[in-house]
Amino acid sequence: MHNSAEIVANSLEVLAERVGDPTPQVYARLFAAYPEMETLFVRDTTGAVRGEMLAVAFQCLLDLGSVGSYAPHLISTERINHEGVGVPYEVFGRFFPILLETCRDLMGEAWTLEVDAAWTDLLGRIAVLTPV
Ligand code: HEM
Repeated sequence: MHNSAEIVANSLEVLAERVGDPTPQVYARLFAAYPEMETLFVRDTTGAVRGEMLAVAFQCLLDLGSVGSYAPHLISTERINHEGVGVPYEVFGRFFPILLETCRDLMGEAWTLEVDAAWTDLLGRIAVLTPV
């Protein structure tokens, strides 16, 4: 019996083995859904900010599977910080469903019902923290 965070963490390892780094696909999907967000990254010429942001989002997702207070605290702080750089409240929380959809598409048949249920569980916990 595994908890959702373990299953999601394992799915990220499978993803890394199958396709490597999903960063380009995540941001392609984000900018397709919210083209106006792409201009906010103009100063990120090396991609370092995009990479770090994705790493932190994955950490938050996995943290929510445990009792840690890291993710709720960070999400509420970053949501306000992001509003300051031009990311609307309601767009901020959309990053997580975009992560799910990107990983699901990249994993193909390795995206099992168990993996889907675990991701959906963790995203439900995020949705509570990012009400619109
Ligand atoms: C669609 C939603 C989001 C958009 C459009 C967005 C956009 C941005 C932008 C433009 C920056 C650079 C800010 C600057 O110029 O200083 C940034 C940085 C950052 N974002 Fe996001 N963000 C989103 C969601 C998130 C989420 C959900 C998290 C984590 C829970 C997150 C964590 C971070 C962190 C940690 C940084 C700083 C990275 C660094 O400078 O090393 N972001 N984000």
